[in-house]
Amino acid sequence: MASRGKWGSRVGFILAAAGSAVGLGNIWRFPYITGKNGGALFVLIYFGCVVVLGLPVLLAELAVGRATCKNPVGAFQALRPGAKWHYTGYLGVVTAVMILSFYSVIAGWTVGYCCKTICGHFAAPGRGEVAAVFSAFIASPWLQIALLAFFIFLTVFIVSRGVAAGLESFARVLMPALFLLLLLLMGYSLTLPGAQKGLAFYLMPDFSEINGRVFLEAMGQAFFSLSLGMGTMLTYGSYLKKKENLVTAAAWVAVLDTSIAVLAGFIIFPALFSMNMAPDQGPGLVFAILPEIFAKIPGGMMFGAFFFLLLAVAALTSTISLLEVPVAFLIDERNWPRRRASVLVGGAALAFGIPSALSGGGVKFLSRLPLVHVDFLSLWDKVWGNISLSVGALLIAIFVAHVWKTSRALEEITAEGVRFRLARLWTIAIKYVCPLLILVVLVSQFF
Ligand code: TRP
Repeated sequence: MASRGKWGSRVGFILAAAGSAVGLGNIWRFPYITGKNGGALFVLIYFGCVVVLGLPVLLAELAVGRATCKNPVGAFQALRPGAKWHYTGYLGVVTAVMILSFYSVIAGWTVGYCCKTICGHFAAPGRGEVAAVFSAFIASPWLQIALLAFFIFLTVFIVSRGVAAGLESFARVLMPALFLLLLLLMGYSLTLPGAQKGLAFYLMPDFSEINGRVFLEAMGQAFFSLSLGMGTMLTYGSYLKKKENLVTAAAWVAVLDTSIAVLAGFIIFPALFSMNMAPDQGPGLVFAILPEIFAKIPGGMMFGAFFFLLLAVAALTSTISLLEVPVAFLIDERNWPRRRASVLVGGAALAFGIPSALSGGGVKFLSRLPLVHVDFLSLWDKVWGNISLSVGALLIAIFVAHVWKTSRALEEITAEGVRFRLARLWTIAIKYVCPLLILVVLVSQFF
């Protein structure tokens, strides 16, 4: 058996798992999806999804990973040999490559914006200028591809060096710094004139806006933000020692992840309404708002550059965890060396990422082809970042509750005398609530 790495310490694991969870999902995706879905009511449903679906599935993934010490494909095979359940693992491996492909495009934007801020492109923006800079930026095909390639290269470089050395040291420094900076920005944003309108949008639910799509987007966002539904947390759990407490680890990850998303909302929405901009402008939202904020703060350029740098590092700890899933699969199941697996999967993600990198519409001669008019980035985000993760989470919940059985999962969770007071609640959630709810929300989309 090839020797598998283990996390160096408990805090190291929590930070690495939180590092996977906290990323563009919190600071880029959460505000844009919230804006698109009408604000406060979406946020409320999102919280519900984190508690009722996210936490139980998170614990289930960690338990399967640690019980088997395997990658997603191997884990399902080990617990149910000869069955077809390991296709859930394959779905996860494919989903990982696809999410990595478009996620790295956005991560490339953060790197680009860091440089742009340093170079003073946003020093004193006039009306509509930030938006114009953004459109020109995403419509530069070579720049977009170069940034995408750069980011994937960074991820491959770190993953090819292995688990503990590659991941823990990164997560350790980043999280507190990012948190502090977000707090400062929130303080500033809340004092802007007209901030109240933004707060109302963000905090006062309007129940007339409810529809099936809001539920799907909230559920998908919960899985996306917590890195669930494709075996990331399963793989991270497989590097965890038996004596660690899965329950507290899961709780910490969920609390950290959700609070960072909430903070991001407190920065974006007051500023957005203060500047009279539309909340439903899609994936470009935070890239239109943040430079405006930095331009107004004293010393804002330095601040802004540092912020985009931190955001890039937060994205990096997430892309690392995405790449780790297919890499762990190739190492365990195909006996590939780590280096080769990282480079090849990274190359595949780069190839699949190119359509997303070009969806800003800069390639003129391509625009005659009908397919090019599809916004690939949003499409991929929806298909892989939402639907596929929800299907994956559904399969994992059914597997743990009805195939592997909750009694065995609970044995794993409470190994070495760990107490789990909410065991009954978790059992009900993973057996009935998660499968039914996910299924209903998914199926309702067809009507
Ligand atoms: N959760 C990360 C974020 O919020 C992104 C991410 C990393 C992810 N690994 C994942 C999403 C696995 C889904 C599945 O930015």
